[in-house]
Amino acid sequence: MIRLAQRAMANAHCPYSNFPVGACLRTASGQLFAGCNVENASFPEGWCAETSAIAAMVLAGETHIEEVVVITTGSEPCAPCGGCRQRLAEFSSSDTEIHLCDPEGVRLTITLGELLPRAFDGSQLEPFVSGAP
Ligand code: THU
Repeated sequence: MIRLAQRAMANAHCPYSNFPVGACLRTASGQLFAGCNVENASFPEGWCAETSAIAAMVLAGETHIEEVVVITTGSEPCAPCGGCRQRLAEFSSSDTEIHLCDPEGVRLTITLGELLPRAFDGSQLEPFVSGAP
């Protein structure tokens, strides 16, 4: 997973931050999906490595994340941003492990529940939306 995330990071499009990020997701079926950050000259239009990996996973018909790797080149581990925590929560559980890595390896392993306690999820919509997932 780290190798795939590193390969994805090498293709990051980040000319505005010079902060390449790679991510790799392992799904319940054992498949691996990698992604990188993709920035844009109109800054808010870019997106994160985790988001790219989630899109690749959903495109392949997978929806259950078992484990996540996020890698950057910096010495400080890069924790997923708030938006990506919520996107990961859509397909993970609170005990899903997220490994924050640098090129030397895993720097910190943390669970999604620790990153996003009391996450908002679709079950809270059920009383409001008929036919919600
Ligand atoms: N970034 C990610 O790809 N993942 C994160 O979880 C944090 C931030 C990217 C977005 C942007 O391209 C660059 O890092 C600087 O914020």
